[in-house]
Amino acid sequence: MFDIKPFGGVIYGADYNPEQWPREVWREDARLMNEAGVNLVSLGIFSWALLEPRPGEYDFGWLDEVMDLLHEHGVGVNLATATASPPPWLSLKYPDSKPVTADGVRLEVGGRQLYCPSHAAFREHVRTLTRQIAVRYAAHPALRMWHVNNEYGCHIDQCYCDLCAGNFRDWLHGQYGTLEALNAAWGTAFWSQRYGDWAEIQPPRRAPTYPNPTQQLDWRRFSSDNILELYRLEVGVLREVTPEVPVTTNFLGFLPGLDYFKWAREEDVVSLDAYPDPSDAAPHLDAGMSYDLMRSLRGGQRWILMEQAPSAVNWRQHNAVKRPGLMRVLNHQALAHGASGLMFFQWRASRAGAEKYHSGMVQHVGPERSRVWREVKALGQELGSLSALTRASVQSRVAVMFDWNNWWALELDSKPAALKLMPLVRKWYAALRGLGQNVDFVHPDADLGAYDVIALPNGYLLTQGAAENLRTFVQGGGTFIAGFFSGIVDKHEHVGLGGYPGFLRDVLGLWVEEWAPLQPGETTRVRLEAGEEVQATQWAEVIHPEGAEVLATFGEDYLAGGAAVTRHAFGAGQAYYLGSDLPQPALAGLLEGALRAVNVPLCIVPEQLDLSVSTLEEGQVLHLLNVHPTAPLTVTLPAGGERLGGGDSVPGTLTLAPYAAELIRYAGVVDLAAVRVQGGEAAVASEQQKLPVSG
Ligand code: GLA
Ligand code: ZN
Repeated sequence: MFDIKPFGGVIYGADYNPEQWPREVWREDARLMNEAGVNLVSLGIFSWALLEPRPGEYDFGWLDEVMDLLHEHGVGVNLATATASPPPWLSLKYPDSKPVTADGVRLEVGGRQLYCPSHAAFREHVRTLTRQIAVRYAAHPALRMWHVNNEYGCHIDQCYCDLCAGNFRDWLHGQYGTLEALNAAWGTAFWSQRYGDWAEIQPPRRAPTYPNPTQQLDWRRFSSDNILELYRLEVGVLREVTPEVPVTTNFLGFLPGLDYFKWAREEDVVSLDAYPDPSDAAPHLDAGMSYDLMRSLRGGQRWILMEQAPSAVNWRQHNAVKRPGLMRVLNHQALAHGASGLMFFQWRASRAGAEKYHSGMVQHVGPERSRVWREVKALGQELGSLSALTRASVQSRVAVMFDWNNWWALELDSKPAALKLMPLVRKWYAALRGLGQNVDFVHPDADLGAYDVIALPNGYLLTQGAAENLRTFVQGGGTFIAGFFSGIVDKHEHVGLGGYPGFLRDVLGLWVEEWAPLQPGETTRVRLEAGEEVQATQWAEVIHPEGAEVLATFGEDYLAGGAAVTRHAFGAGQAYYLGSDLPQPALAGLLEGALRAVNVPLCIVPEQLDLSVSTLEEGQVLHLLNVHPTAPLTVTLPAGGERLGGGDSVPGTLTLAPYAAELIRYAGVVDLAAVRVQGGEAAVASEQQKLPVSG
């Protein structure tokens, strides 16, 4: 259970690493935290070596002092279990606790996150330290929540050592029961791979050529689960000692290594570290995608932005600053997408060590003369008027279906083409955001009943259960839109035979005879029904409609005249299929047509405008954020709005300056169709590119 009430509004703060600073600075820190409106800090994340300087010898004196000081200043603590980076003595004492790469290289001391998740003695030390901390601070009045470890899987998401190999075998035993079942699932009849003894099975270490694909897929599943076991170990201790204190661990958005849908079930609140690149032309797109995923992981529950940079990071090749105003508007974006907490890495910029050139709320120059400080302080003050948002829900009629299993499977080697999932997801997500939609991410096994439209940019791996779920959804009146190369393999990565996509043929009303992937940079003409031609990329295929209506055709080569985009009326719903990677405007036009056909309210939004709607008991809030450094926008609004917080009524037409955030409250439902935006770079859909829709 997570209750926002004790925080008295939006959570605001940072990672606090006082062990880098002499005591005098701590007092100054506490005073400045009050000045900035900080109400929560994450403490002790990398403190293991100081808290346990020698095995079994603890020094909590300094941490007691910091906890007390923060409490005196009314600052709550998100206390870490301090297990994120084991001290050098641990690695020296247990050399085999150091993780191993696929090439067999054992990694060495000097960085962080140096552990093998399977190592028994390491795990025992983790358990003991977690218990020490939990017991010591269980009743401390500053304690608000537990921060377990830090960014699991950030540096090491797979360890290929012998201990992990053993755990992998146990995991496989649990999955398959018998070697016969495993041999069948892995297709080991080929390439003389049949296993006659469990001991013969290895992780997919560096091999002469492609390791068995199902072995690789199971390895990814196992690796996520194996690290999850480590998390569970800590959570078990915390729940036993402090059952009422909420638990989180900070996620990394679309992190390839961990299946967060599985992980999030075992948290009380989801938290996220997000570092969009300020040099990206649309940094809010990647950020928004992660934000929406976080909200979706626990069925719409609000989440905490646990880390973000106040300005620049240090770990890119070239680290762009957040220009004045960008930090604020990106924080507004997090709130609009369901965050109840806005926190930074880190409170005070380090003067030594690996991250000394990473910005802090307090920069090297000190607070008074820093524009970053002025901005974080102003944001802290502004949050006072935004508390209502912590009670809001973000409701979506449209969801993008997403599954880590599919991500892993699609990007295994030996495919018809080396496809990447995330660029497709991003493209579809951006197109839906460009239609003014709040977008959820939904797991294939989830209840789809709340949605009008499910978009599946790619669902190469689709289990029987997921296909059944989608079938029921469409039969019941839902709109399903699938991208190319979907519904091809089952959970073991076995191909459905007799015409692709074996698992969705009836729903889509077609079968595919063969694929004709394009080379990088190659394009193929696709003719839309209105007569317009666009250049598609990545993929083409020979589609045989079996009840589906053809909305677009391929325009060249031996595919010319064949279906490229189809729509099939199935039960009470509609299923669309895209046999190629359409350019963004054509994709947006297609999605627009599909939404309009089922009366999903929408408005056309340029990429630089982050538009969202939050729902409160007393009405809705329209969030309009202009995430552009120089280009203003003009927005015509539905009548009857008032500024959130201020209460003053807003004019019918509003100009949004660069980086402006306007939050407008309506007594009822926001009439999206009445929102009109002028200006802005590259509106995503245009009249000509729209595909025709009937009904
Ligand atoms: C991550 C980590 C932090 C810090 C920041 C720097 O989010 O959790 O400890 O390294 O990155 O951006
Ligand atoms: Zn290992």
